[in-house]
Amino acid sequence: MAHFDDVKGFAFDLDGVLADTAKFHSQAWRQIAEELNITWTPELESGIKGIDRMSSLMLILNSADVAGNYTEEQKEALATRKNDHYKELIGTLTPDDVLPGMHKFLDELKANNLKMSIASASKNAPFILDKLQISDYFVGVVDPSKVKEGKPAPDIFAEAAKILDLDPATVVGLEDSAAGITSINAAGEISVGIGDKALLHEAKINFPSTADVTLAKIRAHLNW
Ligand code: BG6
Ligand code: MG
Repeated sequence: MAHFDDVKGFAFDLDGVLADTAKFHSQAWRQIAEELNITWTPELESGIKGIDRMSSLMLILNSADVAGNYTEEQKEALATRKNDHYKELIGTLTPDDVLPGMHKFLDELKANNLKMSIASASKNAPFILDKLQISDYFVGVVDPSKVKEGKPAPDIFAEAAKILDLDPATVVGLEDSAAGITSINAAGEISVGIGDKALLHEAKINFPSTADVTLAKIRAHLNW
C-alpha cells in the first residue's frame, strides 16, 4: 500500500474539482438534449462528467436510442453548438469560481514542494485556468487532443504523471467523476474521489466536497 512519504505530486481534474464548471457543462448539454426532445436524467448528469465532448453527445443520444438518426456532420454541429454555449458560460468565470478549499489546498501543496499538473478531458482547460488565475501553480496541462484515449482509459492521468516527471505510483489524482477515478486507478496512481461516495466507490480515498480536502487528511488516510 502507498505510504504518504512516497507521494511526490498531484494530478488534478479541473471541471468539478478546481473549477465550478460542471454545472455549465450540464446546463449547455441539457439545452441541446431538450431541443432534441431527450429527457435530462440524473444518469446523464453524472454520466457526462469526465468524458470527452463527443462521448458526452453519444451518451445523450444513446439514452434515447436515437444516435442512428444523426449523420457525423450533424453530430459535429451539435457538439460545436454545445461548446459555443459553454464558452459563453465560462466567459463569466472569475477567481471566485475556484471551488471551496481548493485555493488553500493548492497553496498547501506548493508550500510542501509537491508538484502539480492538470489532467482534464477539456480542450477549454487552459482558458479556464487563466480565468481563475491559477495557471502558475501547475507544471503543465495535459493536451487531451494528444492522448490516444480519454477517461476512463489511463492515458490522461498517465500523461499527467509524465508532465510531472514522476513515477505514477507517487502521484495522487483528484477527480469528481467515476470515469476519472477509473482512469487514475488504471494509470497506477492513488485515487481521491470528491463527491458522492456511492458513485465514486472505486476511489482509494473519498471526500464529500472540495472544502474537505486537506493534505493532512490525505496523509492520515495513506499512513493507516
Ligand atoms: C471534462 C468534463 O472535464 O471535460 C466533461 O467533466 C466534458 O463533462 C469534458 O465533456 C470535455 O470538455 P470540453 O470543454 O473539451 O468540451
Ligand atoms: Mg471533473
